[in-house]
Amino acid sequence: MSDGVVVVVGATAGLGKEVARHYAGADRDVVITGRDEARVKEVADELGGKTTGVALDLSRPNEIADALRGVGDVHRLVLAGVQRDQNTMRGYDVDAAIRLVTLKLVGYTEVVHALMDRLRDDSSILIFGGLAKEHPYPGSMTVTTINHGVDGLVRSLTFELAPIRVNAIHPGIVEDSPFWGGKTEALDGHRARTTTGRLVQMQDIVDAAVMMLENPSIVGAELRVDAGWSLPL
Ligand SMILES: NC(=O)c1ccc[n+]([C@@H]2O[C@H](COP(=O)([O-])OP(=O)(O)OC[C@H]3O[C@@H](n4cnc5c(N)ncnc54)[C@H](OP(=O)(O)O)[C@@H]3O)[C@@H](O)[C@H]2O)c1
Repeated sequence: MSDGVVVVVGATAGLGKEVARHYAGADRDVVITGRDEARVKEVADELGGKTTGVALDLSRPNEIADALRGVGDVHRLVLAGVQRDQNTMRGYDVDAAIRLVTLKLVGYTEVVHALMDRLRDDSSILIFGGLAKEHPYPGSMTVTTINHGVDGLVRSLTFELAPIRVNAIHPGIVEDSPFWGGKTEALDGHRARTTTGRLVQMQDIVDAAVMMLENPSIVGAELRVDAGWSLPL
């Protein structure tokens, strides 16, 4: 049996890209996705090794199965794509909320559904949530909600897909991720609230993600990787 491919959905930037970089460096067949075909190709070339790319939009779930038709047997599947909204109750933007809820909860699920005939008993799936789940911030209305949905997805998929392993990783604030670039004041505030006095780094997330994807006894886990952000000081 071949090793099967590592599919990373949402890997043209940020944490998905770093997980894809790890597997590309380990000489695995990696398939990355993003919305724009040219960008996906550019990043696949940058990651090198046996990396190829597929363009798909998670907020358009009806088109996902077609986009993934050419992907082979899937050994590892990482669901990391996100397009955050800034949603509060006072200024609730319904369209932005629908896009994000669809992207994470329906889009992620449809990726798994579309690939079901290519998952094997020893495959594993890792879903990215985030600790806005426990720590709402101004504008996190939808993000907080969907990250709780990720745990529901893990439980449902673990039950439905057994013996395939499904897990969730919930990063805290990842200091060196592109999303937080330049937001020094906010980062300082979050750092002051961690027990370790530091913030999570992208490599910490890659290490934890790979452990969850590879360890055959980690099943249905919802792992916080937050440098101690969740604990009272
Ligand atoms: N960074 C953090 O501090 C942090 C903290 C907690 C949780 N997280 C979670 O970790 C995951 C990765 O976050 P990140 O900050 O690394 O992300 P990011 O840098 O914003 O990258 C997002 C990725 O998702 C893709 N994407 C965006 N909209 C998409 C759509 N509609 N359909 C398909 N792909 C789409 C982007 O590709 P294109 O733009 O090329 O389409 C890009 O590859 C997310 O699930 C996020 O919620 C991150």
